Amino acid sequence: MSAVAVRRIGVVGAGTMGAGIAQLGCAAGFRTLLHDPLPEALEAGERRVRGGLDRWVAKGRADSAAADLLGTVAALDDLAGCELVIEAIVEDLDAKLALFAELEGIVRADTILATNTSALSVTEIASAVETPERVVGMHFFNPAPLMPLVEIVRAELSSDEAVEAAFRFGERLGKRPIRCHDTPGFVVNRVLIPLLNDCLRVLDEARVSPEDLDAAMTAGAGWPMGPCTLVDLVGIDVHVHASEALYEKLREPRMAPPPRIVSMRNAGLLGRKSGRGFYSYD
Ligand code: 3HC
Repeated sequence: MSAVAVRRIGVVGAGTMGAGIAQLGCAAGFRTLLHDPLPEALEAGERRVRGGLDRWVAKGRADSAAADLLGTVAALDDLAGCELVIEAIVEDLDAKLALFAELEGIVRADTILATNTSALSVTEIASAVETPERVVGMHFFNPAPLMPLVEIVRAELSSDEAVEAAFRFGERLGKRPIRCHDTPGFVVNRVLIPLLNDCLRVLDEARVSPEDLDAAMTAGAGWPMGPCTLVDLVGIDVHVHASEALYEKLREPRMAPPPRIVSMRNAGLLGRKSGRGFYSYD
């Protein structure tokens, strides 16, 4: 596989992460096509990208022409001309396998296929395609427009060219890319997921309120935001899923989600996105 010059990117999934990645692509000067099969999700994602770009234009962080680089496409086929496609759909292995298999039939032979998965195996996702050397992980952090890191994940069969092209693309987005291998949780989530679960267990063990726990970790440990605020931001469903996926693979008790947040997830208390988690949001 030879190195491909990335000019047009596709982003599949117009949720929080997909919209954040699309915003970064436009701001960095890439023609960016955002796809979501659900029209309402695509519209909401587009609003989010344009709103984020407006804020950046006002601050001089992006050019006013950046928004012209955004396209929304209702059909996956419209990603045919992209040199890089980043998947940011639901964290469901079967859904990702089906998407990658379909994408391979649409894009060019040298298009790089990246997954933004948090906790699934990139190697397993790559098994859906006949050319797994083109598949890498590009793991962004929430909120993607603001968090500097992107993990560039080498799967079992990823080619050097694909890994390096993804790394360079991360740099062109203005991110701080790091290279790592496809192990459960990669780097950050391997550390952060059990740490957040410890924090949430302390809620019950020390009978501390979410407000005081957050104050403890911001004022006492220098975290930029407290663990309850962070889990609400990431999404309680996303955090529970990532914890379960890591626990399933590593069998470390600290990885398992505390029962309290599993109940919250089951009750639809998902954090910011549902309006209620540890805190209430308007
Ligand atoms: N586009 C453009 N601008 C945006 C924006 C967007 N999408 N979102 C927010 N902004 C703006 C804000 O309006 C604000 O502008 P202002 O300065 O003019 O008011 C500016 O960006 C900064 O926002 P904040 O004031 O909220 O910035 P903070 O200094 O409080 O930092 C933070 C925010 C970077 C989110 C910081 O609190 C932080 O680092 N938190 C930790 C987040 C974290 O740990 N994330 C990782 C989660 S784990 C994960 O994602 C992995 C996954 O697999 C689960």
